[in-house]
Amino acid sequence: MIEIRNLSKQYGNKLALDQVNLQLDRGVYGLLGPNGSGKTTLLRCLAGILRPTCGTTKSPETIGYLPQRFSMYRELTLFEAMAYFASLKKIPRQRQKDEIMRLLSLVHLDDRVKSKVRSLSGGMIRRMGIAQALIGDPPLLLVDEPTAGLDPEERLSFKNLIMNINSEGCVLISTHIVEDVEALCKRIIILNEGRVVIVSSADELKQHAKGVIYSVLAAKQDALRPPFEVLRRERIDGQEMLRVLSLQEQPAESVEPTIEDGYIMHIRGYAAKHT
Ligand SMILES: Nc1ncnc2c1ncn2[C@@H]1O[C@H](COP(=O)(O)OP(=O)(O)O)[C@@H](O)[C@H]1O
Ligand SMILES: [Mg+2]
Repeated sequence: MIEIRNLSKQYGNKLALDQVNLQLDRGVYGLLGPNGSGKTTLLRCLAGILRPTCGTTKSPETIGYLPQRFSMYRELTLFEAMAYFASLKKIPRQRQKDEIMRLLSLVHLDDRVKSKVRSLSGGMIRRMGIAQALIGDPPLLLVDEPTAGLDPEERLSFKNLIMNINSEGCVLISTHIVEDVEALCKRIIILNEGRVVIVSSADELKQHAKGVIYSVLAAKQDALRPPFEVLRRERIDGQEMLRVLSLQEQPAESVEPTIEDGYIMHIRGYAAKHT
């Protein structure tokens, strides 16, 4: 459905995308990577906003796109703003109203059609952003960091919303928040320094950290054999514990990896050394 071949993008002497090859079919994909890894650049190339330095992308003609920083004229009403986007997408005038109301009810904003954009909360504007991206049922939906800056409750409702879209097409969601992609995406694409490091399912990603994650009492850290990396400190049953990644066996309790552990394996290059 979408084919990306040898895609590179250079800004001055910064190589933001380095020979990206991807093939996407229908379903929800997560584009996961640290800040600066090239997620926005990749989405902008797919959306046709940015011209790649080299390589090709083959994608559908109509694309829905929610940019990382979505904003809208504050003095328009929600309905007017949506009608503006519908016109840009060449939806015939007589069909606009139905389409707008269908999408606003999908994102639970149908009771706010007459509200001015300036009266909406950040979470509501993000939902409006999804609604405008869905106008005309695009076979490819690109969503850039949809949950950044939202509070936990808004993030949850946003995730439910994406799950309910039930698109027949392909949805590509970029995020640097690992837990956002876990429940949402059938495939996870990890991008690091402009390169695709791996494409896998959430379960596979967890498995990549199998046998290398340990939990140890903080007070007993000295017993660990270097090299190891402390991933985080956590309080479990009132005790201070360290979650540790190590490719060699440690005198500590081996624990089940999370998808976040699998992500770290790839981002820090451990996966290549681990067999
Ligand atoms: N317009 C630009 N000019 C120069 N460098 C840029 C520009 N846009 C992005 N970059 C750089 O390209 C790299 C990738 O950026 P970006 O695609 O925004 O990453 P992400 O969305 O994953 O945070 C970063 O190092 C960023 O600083
Ligand atoms: Mg970005």
